[in-house]
Amino acid sequence: MTDHDVDPGTARAEFVVVANRLPVDVERDADGTLITKQAPGGLVTALKPILRSRRGAWVGWPGAADIGDEPIQGDDMTLVPVRLSEQEIAEYYEGFSNGSLWPLYHDVIVKPEYHREWWNSYVEVNRRFAAAAAATAAHGATVWVQDYQLQLVPRMLRMLRPDVRIGFFLHIPFPPVELFMQMPWRAEIIEGILGADLVGFHLPGGAQNFLYLAKRLAGYPTSKGNVGTRTKFGVVTVGFRSVLVGAFPISIDSAVLAEAARSPATRTRAKQLRRDLGNPQRIMLGVDRLDYTKGIDVRLRAIHELYHEGRLDPEEVVFVQLATPSRERVESYKAMRNDIERQVGRINGDFGRVGNPAVHYIHRSVPREELIAFFAAADVMLVTPLRDGMNLVAKEYLACRPDGGGALVLSEFTGAAAELRQAYLCNPHDLESVKNAIYDAVQQDRDEGRRRIRAMRRQVLQYDVDLWARSFLETLAGHIDTLEPTHSHDAARDAATQPSDDTVEPAGRSAR
Ligand code: ADP
Ligand code: G6P
Repeated sequence: MTDHDVDPGTARAEFVVVANRLPVDVERDADGTLITKQAPGGLVTALKPILRSRRGAWVGWPGAADIGDEPIQGDDMTLVPVRLSEQEIAEYYEGFSNGSLWPLYHDVIVKPEYHREWWNSYVEVNRRFAAAAAATAAHGATVWVQDYQLQLVPRMLRMLRPDVRIGFFLHIPFPPVELFMQMPWRAEIIEGILGADLVGFHLPGGAQNFLYLAKRLAGYPTSKGNVGTRTKFGVVTVGFRSVLVGAFPISIDSAVLAEAARSPATRTRAKQLRRDLGNPQRIMLGVDRLDYTKGIDVRLRAIHELYHEGRLDPEEVVFVQLATPSRERVESYKAMRNDIERQVGRINGDFGRVGNPAVHYIHRSVPREELIAFFAAADVMLVTPLRDGMNLVAKEYLACRPDGGGALVLSEFTGAAAELRQAYLCNPHDLESVKNAIYDAVQQDRDEGRRRIRAMRRQVLQYDVDLWARSFLETLAGHIDTLEPTHSHDAARDAATQPSDDTVEPAGRSAR
């Protein structure tokens, strides 16, 4: 048996991913038959190819109430469904995960709410995920727990299964210390994550915040440590265990996207999309889950003013927004959707013509091939989040431009901005900055544009999602075998409080 096969005798896996969602959503159609479709979001996009190549098991919620009992054996992975009731979806998922943690970790763009029932449900559901992971993992297996919905799972799993290696990766930003301190159950969350052997964040700043809190809130000594001879990490000493903390900026399956973008079918479809849009001089594109963190309202306001001021001509420069429906029962998401749709209506009311709207808004998820054709057709990609852990869309756009064409407008408040410095960077809190970045990108000189895209593409093609996963998993394996702590507590404390200290270096490359 290789390292990552599922053991047929015990049906237990050597490699287990635990995430709130399975990679597919399971739904019941009108006659009660179960049907599946790709689950939304960057976590699924990133991890699916990793799990496929390692042939492990994925523990997660199938996306609807009261579904899921038996594991489903697929060709390239085993799906282990975790059943949630309607009430748990309301309290654990929509409540604590997306009404408390999501806004708190995204700079309180909307006000987080804290309710004891939500927390109790979060604890209960995390326990169920931990039990499902414990029942799925083979002896000595590697279990990789994902994201903010499951921060208590590492500790719970360790209690059930001290034999397994546990990694934890946070896909969203880890907030500044002052914000995290709002959380009524802050110590429990830090203790929960510290059940892992390796804790990963996108950026060194997140790792430093976490290290600081491990010391200040939980009282554990922190220090620097090396894995093998090269890489320095933060180390938290929890009893007899060492927990490694570092930065691992996530990426995409770039080669696969680049290949698809080169295909004649994509090129034909991209040309057809341009024709369908009335052959404008420039197509601007936004692709997001419909989420208030993404700054969709910001880009619409900027576009409206640019049309109004005559800096952009609505007949020649059109905007297409593809928006995947997301968390539709959460109040803040309902309010944001109304606001965005009102803005789209207003812009088209002011500047559209019959048969030629200035803004095309599609409120649904589009198939992957169609998305790639949109990327290939877009002259300017607008990525303007108020806060985003990484933003894979920015990287996907670059991978889909083997022709060297296009331009990327990118918010400084995304993790991706740390790597993609040749983008038209903007501050989404400063409307003039967003307007100027859009204007410059629309007007860019062809050679200048190609130079920028080429440099960013090099980054995205070189550091793909496979390298990200290997870097994390090899560190996790190496950590247990060869960690050499240096126990310099003062240095670690300094590192945790100083944002650009080198103590918590990104694994494999610089993220800032
Ligand atoms: P998040 O994880 O917060 O949703 P990311 O940008 O990191 O944000 O990842 C979003 C993923 O969802 C990307 O893979 C993107 O291509 C995909 N996606 C977003 N909107 C759509 C859409 N309307 N149709 C299809 N895929 C989409
Ligand atoms: C982000 C989160 C993921 C989440 C995804 C989609 O990428 O980091 O954990 O799965 O959004 O959100 P949803 O609530 O639909 O799972």
